[in-house]
Amino acid sequence: MSSLADRDKKHIWHPFTPQLGSEPNVPIVKGDGALVYDADGREYIDAISSWWVNIHGHANSYIANKVKQQLDQIEHVLFSGYTHEPAVRLAELLKKHLPYMDKVFYSDDGSTSVEVALKMAFQYWHNKGQVRTKVIAFENAYHGDTFGSMSVGARNVFSNAFAPMLFDVVHIPVPVQGREQESIAALKNAIDDNTAAFIFEPLVQGAAGMIMYEASALDELLHVCESSNVITIADEVMTGFGRTGKMFATDHCSFKPDIICLSKGITGGFMPLGATLCTEKVYSAYLTADRTKTFFHGHSYTANPLACAAACASLELFEQGEVLSSVERIAAFMKNAVEKLRQQSSVLDARVCGAILAVELKSPEATGYLNVVGESVAGFFQERGIILRPLGNVIYLIPPYCTTDDQLNKMVSAVREFADKLK
Ligand SMILES: Cc1ncc(COP(=O)(O)O)c(C=O)c1O
Repeated sequence: MSSLADRDKKHIWHPFTPQLGSEPNVPIVKGDGALVYDADGREYIDAISSWWVNIHGHANSYIANKVKQQLDQIEHVLFSGYTHEPAVRLAELLKKHLPYMDKVFYSDDGSTSVEVALKMAFQYWHNKGQVRTKVIAFENAYHGDTFGSMSVGARNVFSNAFAPMLFDVVHIPVPVQGREQESIAALKNAIDDNTAAFIFEPLVQGAAGMIMYEASALDELLHVCESSNVITIADEVMTGFGRTGKMFATDHCSFKPDIICLSKGITGGFMPLGATLCTEKVYSAYLTADRTKTFFHGHSYTANPLACAAACASLELFEQGEVLSSVERIAAFMKNAVEKLRQQSSVLDARVCGAILAVELKSPEATGYLNVVGESVAGFFQERGIILRPLGNVIYLIPPYCTTDDQLNKMVSAVREFADKLK
């Protein structure tokens, strides 16, 4: 019988994967904490939390048991005209952490949580009898792969093929150190009577290459929007659930967004789920008996009970109190590691935000997803028993919070070794 990798190659088209010249996909059969195992029994440290979704480690028994219990109860409930305990409880738990939010709207993943946010904002103005079509977003932004989320993202190799079909968005500079005033001025300049919303990845732009900026700068941008009555959308799909050191990246700010998008870590990485939370201000535009003002949006698997049960269990683990202290431990480790990485001659920049560490390597080509330096990264780390996929010439670590110091040391040593090799 042919191997799983051969059968995979025969039948499956994997995401973000060139269809010629790519290495065979590695079959993974088991996970345990920060480790996963392939079909030959090889062990890998998951340095990037399975595409940033995993929080408490793989096969976490607390979450697994809660999902198993839910499986025996009810696996799915249509979510219009009906409801269920895990969805209600999850909304209550999320609102405990985001007390300024009023309603939770469920969807399937990060991209759909952003689609919901954009449509919610556009229709907010429509319901109020105004046509507002302009969205402001950051340069380099990545908000997902559906058409709305692509439209608010940067125009780049991810979206080039669809450029003519994307709606117009004003992209302003990210307020990285030294460009804060430029960003604020660009926002003020872009805002007019047609502006519906400003969408942003708070503190860290993930897919762009872990570009980081300060909460104080974001606060100023949020203040401008609030004063100008522009709806603000925080895309916390990557930054949510502890990654930046606090539960949410916007917790570092004094001004709060009107809409917040959540996914990835929401279920601890167990099940796909998206959630878009909005304030009472946004919701009030929909609080009408006029049926034409209904938010006509939903997905078959909206608020799937298994996903909601996993998410409740994940938040219960946070409530038990040790998760954010593990984040603190990892954040301290990263802070220490980044200082040493900065001293390596092949490192252009090394940065850290909470439990996320990024190393931008020098390259003859411009920094970007297709940068040649990135081509050998995944294989190099795989050979050393580490799962790590770079963003071009940016190598980053975003591990599950149960990762041990020993495992962190192994990851950072391998990063140093790779950087050394480039000298
Ligand atoms: C900030 C941000 N928003 C949205 C998305 C899209 O999420 P998904 O891949 O679950 O559709 C991502 C994915 O990486 C993301 O980082």
